[in-house]
Amino acid sequence: MTTQLDEIPVARRLTPPVSQQQGLSARLLLLLLLAGSTLAGTVVFLRSNQNMSPLLPPSAELMPPPEADGRLLGHFSYPIAREADLVEVVPGRRLHGDAAAAFLAMQQDAEVDGVQLRLLSAFRDQETQHDLFFSIMVERSQRPEERAQVSAPPGYSEHHTGYALDLGDARHPELDLDAAFDQSAAFTWLQQHASRYHFRLSFPANNPQGVAYEPWHWRWEGSSHALELFEQTRRFHAAT
Ligand code: DAL
Ligand code: ZN
Repeated sequence: MTTQLDEIPVARRLTPPVSQQQGLSARLLLLLLLAGSTLAGTVVFLRSNQNMSPLLPPSAELMPPPEADGRLLGHFSYPIAREADLVEVVPGRRLHGDAAAAFLAMQQDAEVDGVQLRLLSAFRDQETQHDLFFSIMVERSQRPEERAQVSAPPGYSEHHTGYALDLGDARHPELDLDAAFDQSAAFTWLQQHASRYHFRLSFPANNPQGVAYEPWHWRWEGSSHALELFEQTRRFHAAT
């Protein structure tokens, strides 16, 4: 037995009524509009991101430009020591070979005088200095200007040269990297004898670079190469 429905060709039976067709078209149109705007949004986002440097973390973009004399936030720029020039003084701490020899001689002589010099920090590459500068800056919610009072921005640390070192008094580790290190026997000894080994205090109190007093940070100036690297800094200190 055929029903009324069976008499309608199959194709026509599947065709929805006119009002339903209009509803479908409207939904299709909405879907197309949505897909189109999502695609456009993605293109705009990707294009705007092309203008940002993917290598710089957001914090690095807050840095001001260097001054006319090349200083950045008070610090002069320094080249990174050549790998071949560096020697390990204690595990994990390397210095330029010339500075290493001078330090070891100085350490030995201090020991004879009853003073134990301890090498706390030596050569630092750009990446290490970058982490030191920015990670602590972010952790302490500091501005670059504040952070630069105690740490050089990457590319601007004397530690890059392999000629700078941070010293402690092995008998008073509580004074490590503290201004009160200047009360230690090690500092008194260094003040009296370090220049004989061509070491000079880089950041004395109230220095013209505006860097905080660092009685532990000394640099070696015993060769023409080292003298040349620190000439601009030396002149700047002498002139102000
Ligand atoms: N603490 C000194 C300034 C440096 O980071 O090189
Ligand atoms: Zn230092």
